[in-house]
Amino acid sequence: MTDVVLREDEGRVAILTVNRPDKMNALNQAVRDRMLEHLTAIGTDDSIGVVVITGAGEKAFIAGADIGEFEGRSSFDQRKAMESPRIFDVMATFPKPVIAMINGFCLGGGCELSMSCDMRIASEKARFGQPEIKLGLIPGGSGTQRMPRLVGMGHAMRLILSGDMIPAAEAEKIGLVEMVVPAEELRAKTLELASKIASMSPLTVRVAKEALRASERLAIEEGLLYERDLFCLCFSTEDKKEGVEAFLAKRQAEWKGR
Ligand code: COA
Repeated sequence: MTDVVLREDEGRVAILTVNRPDKMNALNQAVRDRMLEHLTAIGTDDSIGVVVITGAGEKAFIAGADIGEFEGRSSFDQRKAMESPRIFDVMATFPKPVIAMINGFCLGGGCELSMSCDMRIASEKARFGQPEIKLGLIPGGSGTQRMPRLVGMGHAMRLILSGDMIPAAEAEKIGLVEMVVPAEELRAKTLELASKIASMSPLTVRVAKEALRASERLAIEEGLLYERDLFCLCFSTEDKKEGVEAFLAKRQAEWKGR
């Protein structure tokens, strides 16, 4: 049977590829379950520092939830399908950074998945949108909450209420992605960034992600106190000692992850 999410490791980077190219990599239950299995394994795998999520083939990153699964579903069936753990929340709170490598159509649940990742790098051929309104639905994978935080309320309203698709260049302009690169350079550029992050102290990267994510839910005063506490916590790690000593001795740091 076809594996609907493939895992491939490149050094300390794990690449997870949604593998339903004939269905534009639409997210069905099997994809969500397999993605969670991989993430559970990677979460405790010390050989991996960063996760990259992408889609198989040249056309789509992920063209949304599998619309076929919506047909005939009751509210309660849908509620059950959306019970925790949800991949969107798992990505956002994952202990290692997650990068979306967006190779094509990035729509609906695919766009929401990319927004749940920590960073987004897109091919110039990618296209973005939240087309749920055309199905008589609203985004249900965090789009109404994450999109305005990323691009501002006006752009989020425009995209979610119209269902319009926008090209990668515009997505970059409004802040929906951080970087747009030629299609043939997408993998190399993504791996370059992912490998650089994965070469840092995994412990410190984890704490930095936690502090950054906290800024999404805390008021500024609480956030600053939380950052101060996490900064001070770093002073108890071997990696802080190593990093400072290596700088002063003008040598490369060798991280222990402790
Ligand atoms: N769910 C289920 N199947 C999907 C899908 C989705 N979200 N997106 C695409 N597919 C399927 C198509 O039904 C088609 O299957 P088939 O070959 O068995 O008929 C196949 O993927 C190829 O898609 P197709 O529409 O023929 O390709 P296209 O290049 O003409 O258009 C899209 C590509 C992405 C613009 C178009 O497929 C589309 O609009 N998809 C739905 C996007 C959406 O509404 N997402 C939000 C869902 S909540």
